[in-house]
Amino acid sequence: MLMTPGPVEVSPRVLAALSSPQIYHYYPGFIDFFEDTVEKVKRVFQTKQDVILMQGEGVLGLEAAVANIIDPGDKVLVCDSGPFGKWFRVYVENYGGVAVEASVDPREVMDVELVKRVMDDHKDLKALTIVHCETPCGTLNPVGEICREAKKRGLITIVDAVASLGGVEVKPDDWGIDVCISASQKCISSTAGLTLMTVSQNAWQAMEAKKKPLRNSYLSILDYRETWLKQKRFPFTPLVAEVYALNEAVSELLEEGLEQSFKRHREAAELCRRYSREIGLTLWPKKDEYASNTVTAVEVPTQYSDKTIVEHMAEKYGVLIGGGYGETKGRVLRVGHMGYQATTANIITTMEALRLTLRDLS
Ligand SMILES: Cc1ncc(COP(=O)(O)O)c(C=O)c1O
Repeated sequence: MLMTPGPVEVSPRVLAALSSPQIYHYYPGFIDFFEDTVEKVKRVFQTKQDVILMQGEGVLGLEAAVANIIDPGDKVLVCDSGPFGKWFRVYVENYGGVAVEASVDPREVMDVELVKRVMDDHKDLKALTIVHCETPCGTLNPVGEICREAKKRGLITIVDAVASLGGVEVKPDDWGIDVCISASQKCISSTAGLTLMTVSQNAWQAMEAKKKPLRNSYLSILDYRETWLKQKRFPFTPLVAEVYALNEAVSELLEEGLEQSFKRHREAAELCRRYSREIGLTLWPKKDEYASNTVTAVEVPTQYSDKTIVEHMAEKYGVLIGGGYGETKGRVLRVGHMGYQATTANIITTMEALRLTLRDLS
């Protein structure tokens, strides 16, 4: 039983879709199917902006957003509340940009007032980057408030919603997000392989205004506009099986309803946090209100290593959870409750397996 914070288990419908026969991608049936998939992803993003599906998991989209917008010398405010927040700094510097950081303790979420202060101190910022669910910390940043403030100051906003879209509210249009990036294998509950991305008019303008717009590259977002959005063609052979799976996964999500999915994630998360405390564990986030409803991070009890616990749980009880990453490596255990995983029954099974594991090891 996979209770890791992505990739997650996929439904029988998604598994069946993966075994559909291959089809030639310029056969009209596939074009219509691809269009239907994009329209459904748009509904999951609750957006009227353009949506593109890039071929590669989330990091491709994160790097592409920076590569397509940032010119050498551009200043970017990088919001850092954990490991994925910090990654943006690397991307920005790889493309010649200058990162200005707003950092908080990884047990906390981004402080809106701090971000406002940094923006006001640096009037020449071009863009802001922020992670919605900082998965390694089990926290959820106030992205809406921060992006709205950034838009008031004319910044391009780039958001990593890899571990949140589908499980909690993500609203690029209302929140002022120019490029919102997610991936297929977390709360969407498909297999790893596709980046889901919204692109605003401001973002397209910024991509065109670059000294040398990025074209003819696997990372080029403009290539998708020239091919798919304008001509219903693909920049290269689409991953047909991944698109089948994604279509099925987003269909299931929309059939359930976004609100119902958010409620299911909230209930799974609340149960997981309550259960964690009942078995004597301490949550990693300093406050419950910082915690994401898509993943729960708890401190590793000092007498054991995360590896010992995770392995024992998987081998003896057949439930696989995750360890930490970046600054939480070796310090936390993580239970994913994303998409298909986020049910009361799964949480009870997982937390009982964890309780028995801690008893076995004591
Ligand atoms: C917040 C966040 N961003 C980015 C990634 C990387 O995404 P992918 O594994 O799809 O490349 C992850 C993966 O765990 C993540 O949790």
